[in-house]
Amino acid sequence: MCARHSFPVHLCRRLAEWNQVFLQEMTMATNIEPRAVRSGGSPRPPVASRRSALKVFGAGAATVLVAGTGVVSYRAFDNGVLDPGAGAPYDAWSRWQDDDSPMGAVGAAILAANPHNTQPWLFHVTATSVDLFADPARDMPFVDPLRREHHVGLGCAVENLVLALVARGHRPTVNLMPDPADQSHVASLVLVRAPASTSPLYDAIGARHSNRGPYLAQNVPAAVLDELTDHVTDLPGIGTRWFTSTAEKAALSAVIIAATEAFIADPRQSQDAFGWFRNNRDDIDEHRDGPTLDAQGLSPVTLTLAKLLPASSRTAGDAFWLDQTRTVHTATAAAYGVITVADTDDPATRLNAGRALQRIHLAATTLDLGLQHMNQITERVDRERRLGLPATFEPRLRDLLAQPGRKPLVTFRLGYPVRAARPSPRRPLAAVIR
Ligand SMILES: Cc1cc2nc3c(=O)[nH]c(=O)nc-3n(C[C@H](O)[C@H](O)[C@H](O)COP(=O)(O)O)c2cc1C
Repeated sequence: MCARHSFPVHLCRRLAEWNQVFLQEMTMATNIEPRAVRSGGSPRPPVASRRSALKVFGAGAATVLVAGTGVVSYRAFDNGVLDPGAGAPYDAWSRWQDDDSPMGAVGAAILAANPHNTQPWLFHVTATSVDLFADPARDMPFVDPLRREHHVGLGCAVENLVLALVARGHRPTVNLMPDPADQSHVASLVLVRAPASTSPLYDAIGARHSNRGPYLAQNVPAAVLDELTDHVTDLPGIGTRWFTSTAEKAALSAVIIAATEAFIADPRQSQDAFGWFRNNRDDIDEHRDGPTLDAQGLSPVTLTLAKLLPASSRTAGDAFWLDQTRTVHTATAAAYGVITVADTDDPATRLNAGRALQRIHLAATTLDLGLQHMNQITERVDRERRLGLPATFEPRLRDLLAQPGRKPLVTFRLGYPVRAARPSPRRPLAAVIR
């Protein structure tokens, strides 16, 4: 999956430099203090206060930039420079608790993480059931040729759906892949009335976002990782493998970077990903899906400049993605997590893995941790398999995992974020109900 977008390469370098300057200014401006230790013993950064300070400082900087560049003011307006993350494509993030019915629970399900923000789901809702279907029009034949991520993303939606139904006074019975004759029917949830109960994970649904920005040079304590793992132990066949030592992280980072290089050298994969990128506000308003500039974890100044610059080519965007992977994503990962399974091809296993991934992401959100899915390696594993090429990435990842009988399904990085993540767009409920 790519956190990519289209910049001319020389401007990318300038943006990265401005970003560094801005990071230094930001650190001074927000006066980040050494982290306090919570009663539970888990140190946490003062994310909330930094977030507020960043909002004020970032908005001010953006306003100065836009006001001072009249010549680009139309693109500023057109691209939502001063108003990111607002308007109809983002309504779902503020309305997901408004409706107490099962349909309201679907409003929470669509906020789940999903590959490339393709939102590959359709729902059928009655008073006593919710059925989830894969939308075949929304898969990515070259990025995800074996539909691994497609299923995992649908599992993420199942998890939000279950949490939201329980919060609305239902006890759902979840049946995965209920119809052997219809592989697009991925889950059937039968509802029985029960006392409504919310949970910290449910409360976090509207605050969870993929964070692709830099993370602080601060370890995530083992107790915190254990806490995350504890959330998924009841899901059948799902394991979590953490990479935390400097040597292990460096080894996995090297394979991720190599996979990114292989991905962008493969025109079909690169084009498949680029086709989903929404580069301006008109695209976002029209499609309400896909990755956006706002979701790339850039500093406010860099983001503003990125929106003011004209969009450029796929290859320039790929170069920027590779640079971000090297200098931000892998360079600042405090830990990597890999969800492991016995059979990566089994759809029900993938769906349970998606439930695990979403739970971990929601739990991480409650702990002020940032999380970014990073699946370049398995995208190359599946591409090599589909093309019948010699397997180069599968043995490298298997060796790093070093768990006989277990296979890596999806990978993510974790850490205390420098800045808060921004929301990504969602299609309206009417577009996903069948
Ligand atoms: C199975 C799966 C694979 C993903 N792979 C990546 C990835 O490789 N890189 C990345 O930056 N984001 C990845 N994502 C995150 C999605 O792009 C993200 O969930 C989507 O754009 C919606 O944004 P949100 O998570 O902020 O709501 C993945 C998500 C899922 C569920």
